[in-house]
Amino acid sequence: MSQTPVIDADQSSFKECYRGRQSWLHHAAYLRMGKVLLALALCRRAGVSLADKDILDYGFGAGTFFRYCPPDSRLFGVEIDPLNVEAVRAMLQERGGGGADLRVIEIESWDTHALLDRPYDVILCSHVLEHLPDPVTFLKKMRECLTPSGVFLGLVPLNERIMDPHHVQRLDREKIHAFNEAAGLRVRTYLEADPWLYWFQPLFTRESGLVHKIAQAVSIALGLPATLLGAEAWFAVSKIYAAVSRSRPTQAAFLSVRA
Ligand SMILES: C[S@@+](CC[C@H](N)C(=O)[O-])C[C@H]1O[C@@H](n2cnc3c(N)ncnc32)[C@H](O)[C@@H]1O
Repeated sequence: MSQTPVIDADQSSFKECYRGRQSWLHHAAYLRMGKVLLALALCRRAGVSLADKDILDYGFGAGTFFRYCPPDSRLFGVEIDPLNVEAVRAMLQERGGGGADLRVIEIESWDTHALLDRPYDVILCSHVLEHLPDPVTFLKKMRECLTPSGVFLGLVPLNERIMDPHHVQRLDREKIHAFNEAAGLRVRTYLEADPWLYWFQPLFTRESGLVHKIAQAVSIALGLPATLLGAEAWFAVSKIYAAVSRSRPTQAAFLSVRA
């Protein structure tokens, strides 16, 4: 049992929300691709290659990021739903990436997990920090899991117009820097991007009903062009959209190293 439980207990909806969602169309949804493209853009901006690296995706969700990792990278990941972990493993095996080491993690004992007892070149933590009551304790543990030249990639939501009911942190640039500093990390690259869901964001706080269906349609309508265009072109178009629609950035992405 963890001495310092840093994960809010009420994350139980993530136990089932990824089940049966491994089709190409599911992976193209903007709720997934918007994050993956930003993570890839962050790496490019920071001059970090994912090739031939040991990569841990902590809280990998449906595993979409893994699909964009180079074939010679070695993939590791933890998630909380055993059925989802199995489905993502099968998806990667089908794509020829059978070597991924994906394991179930239990929230109550997260910090003693076997995959957190070894170093990684790259750790991705996409849209997880905002779920944690104590992100600093979590980041300290992630720091311990970095190789000396390893990098931590963090993605978090910004400017939520209605706070997602699963989020326990409202993050901004100052907090991100403060959390990293307190954890012994230094933010080397920081980006704010992705205006697309700014006005639509309240739709995404609902988990069922008509509004939820509309949110899913929006996610597909944006995700398809984003997937087809790729990170560079998508973020170029995004700048024009942000100016025209007066949208604020909905995500921050940062790359941290040991201080
Ligand atoms: C909003 S989702 C993000 C999923 C994925 N990284 C993405 O960007 O789409 C947050 C994820 O964190 C996972 N999570 C929350 N607490 C966790 C914990 N203690 N250990 C592992 N995963 C956790 C949840 O299961 C959930 O899938």
